[in-house]
Amino acid sequence: MIICNVVGARPNFMKMAPVINEQLSQGFNQVFVHTGQHYDEKMSQIFFDELKMPRPDLYFGVGSDTHARQTARIMTEFEKFCVERKPDLVVVAGDVNSTLAAALVASKLHIPVAHVEAGLRSFDKTMPEELNRIVTDHVSEFHFTTEHSANENLVQEGISPDKIHFVGNCMIDTLFSHLERALDRRPWVPFSVSPGEYALLTLHRPSNVDRHETLAKLASMINKVSESLPVIFPVHPRTAKQIASSDISFARRVILCEPLAYLSFLGLMSKSRVVITDSGGIQEETTALGVPCLTLRANTERPSTVLLGTNRLVDPNGSDVHTAMQEILSDKWRKGEMPPLWDGFASRRICEIISSFIKTFQTV
Ligand code: UD1
Repeated sequence: MIICNVVGARPNFMKMAPVINEQLSQGFNQVFVHTGQHYDEKMSQIFFDELKMPRPDLYFGVGSDTHARQTARIMTEFEKFCVERKPDLVVVAGDVNSTLAAALVASKLHIPVAHVEAGLRSFDKTMPEELNRIVTDHVSEFHFTTEHSANENLVQEGISPDKIHFVGNCMIDTLFSHLERALDRRPWVPFSVSPGEYALLTLHRPSNVDRHETLAKLASMINKVSESLPVIFPVHPRTAKQIASSDISFARRVILCEPLAYLSFLGLMSKSRVVITDSGGIQEETTALGVPCLTLRANTERPSTVLLGTNRLVDPNGSDVHTAMQEILSDKWRKGEMPPLWDGFASRRICEIISSFIKTFQTV
């Protein structure tokens, strides 16, 4: 029996690394495919090194393009692979274009799909990720979920409960197993800031960065935050392009840098006074670390981070950020609690379920 694990973009790597490593330690026969949706050294290669992932057996090198062309290229390459190698199970993670493309190809070839981080919903179909999540879930046989809302969403959409497996959060498995090494690096030192005395910022969502006016407003909000705390801002390539082609300028205490490696970013996040972001995964990582998080979005597909954790959705145009900053700086922010099953063993649970599947497969 051959299991095919698929990754494509940065947020996939930390979710799939523990799943793949657990499969290898249990002796599963696995093939590992990287679509190459993310290809820059700092968006891809460095994660393989730091997370001690095996080299991909196949690299498609699809690169960047429009959604249709990027997705189509991944589908074409992955179909060829599936026809040749005939995997018996395809494992995909998250909500990026590579997730959708691989899941569609496999299901059309009647290969069962397992979706890691299934069932999350922002209920905002203007987000490409929401469309990717919905379609992937509806062609998957195994839904590995991270929080209760995901289980409910899937049942609401008619997915049979026996296909839903509440396993916890693989990305948090990776966080726990790397935190000590991340702190050993003291990644704040190169920025000349002290632990607990800086803010960390990430911005890459098309709705925030693709329009000049929106990005300019965000920049002026960030400049204001920097009056209270220095702001470290690792810039995503999409955002870097927009900034480079505009007249947007940042205050002296906003420190722009290239995308950071996993350990540096984790170490910085864990000692931030506040993280300001429009990412999906960072909302979860800050909750696991008990660090205040301001999410620059109108909705979240990860409600447990707001209900239980340290996350709050903020409107950058109103007074939300100012009010939140005052609470944070006066240490009045909720410490939050760990969502159920974010305990470092999600990947093990996933592999137990895959292992039972292998056994039924062998007895047929
Ligand atoms: C993708 C995911 C998003 C995820 C994000 C994390 C989709 C639809 N979106 O968005 O959910 O949160 O990754 O980073 O899959 N680029 C480079 N080098 C790279 C990768 C991208 O320069 O290694 C630039 C290219 O100019 C490209 C742009 O970034 O056009 C966007 O890349 P793309 O893969 O289309 O989407 P992301 O914005 O990275």
